Amino acid sequence: MEKIIEETVTYLKDKGFENPEIGIILGTGLGQLIEEINIFNEASYNHIPNFPTATVEFHKGKLIYGELEGKTIVVMQGRFHLYEGYTLQDVTFPVRIMEKLGIQTLLVSNAAGAINLDFKKGELMLIEDHINLQGSSPLAFKGVEFLGERFTDMSAPYDAEINKQFKAIAKRKNIRLHEGVYASVVGPQLETRAEYRMLKIMGADAVGMSTVPEIIVANHLKLKAAAVSVLTDECDPDNLEPVDIQDIIANAGKAEPNMITLFKELIRTL
Ligand code: HPA
Repeated sequence: MEKIIEETVTYLKDKGFENPEIGIILGTGLGQLIEEINIFNEASYNHIPNFPTATVEFHKGKLIYGELEGKTIVVMQGRFHLYEGYTLQDVTFPVRIMEKLGIQTLLVSNAAGAINLDFKKGELMLIEDHINLQGSSPLAFKGVEFLGERFTDMSAPYDAEINKQFKAIAKRKNIRLHEGVYASVVGPQLETRAEYRMLKIMGADAVGMSTVPEIIVANHLKLKAAAVSVLTDECDPDNLEPVDIQDIIANAGKAEPNMITLFKELIRTL
C-alpha cells in the first residue's frame, strides 16, 4: 500500500498539487461549490495512477486543486461508494492520498434520509457521531499498522471545534442546522419500513450510503474531520412513500446554497 500511495502522490505533486491545507469531498448537495473555487489544477480520476475508476459514472470524477476563501484546497468532485462495487479500501484511498499531499482537515458532504422526524427534507444536519452499518472496516487489511494505529480511537471522530464553528456560522446566517447521528448503510436499495424503525431504535438521526469510511480513515490518519448531511427525504415508517431518486436530487439542490455558505464561511475560519 505505501508504494502505491507514493506513486499516486508523486503523480499529483508533479501536476502541481502542492501542500493543500484542506480536503473536501463533494457529495450530493455541494457540487456547485466548484463554481466558487479558484482552480489551479485538476486531474481526472481515470488519469490518476491507482485511483479506483471502474464505473462509467466516473468518467467525470476529478480531483481539483485550488484556492477558496484564502485557503489552499484539494477537492474530490465525485466520490466512490461501496454500492458501486468498490471495496472500503478503494473508497478511502483518496483520503490517504490527500493526507499525504498535506491536508490537515477533511470536510465531507452527503445526502441522507431523515430518521429523526423532527428534521425535514431540504434541511441540513451536522454529523455529531456515526454508526457504521457497512459490514466491515476500511482499516481491516494486512499492513494497516504501517499507515497508522490499527486500533484507531473513535471517541470523538468529528472535530468539536469545527462543529462549534459550523453551528456559530449557521446561527449567524440564519441557516437551520440540526445536529445528529448518521448511520451508513451499503445501499444501493433504500431501506424497508422495518429497517427505518431499527435505525431509529439504534439512535440514528439520518441514514446514508457514504461518509463513514472516509471519516474512519481520516481518524486513522489523525486528520481533523467534519461532515454535513443534506436531508433529502423523511423516513417515516408509518407513512412511507416510495422514494423517487429525482426527488432526492431536487431536494439536495434546494439546500445547496445553504450548504455552500456553511462550507465557505467555515473554510475562512480554519
Ligand atoms: N436512505 C439511505 N440513503 C439515503 C436516503 C435514505 O433514505 N436518502 C438519501 N440517501
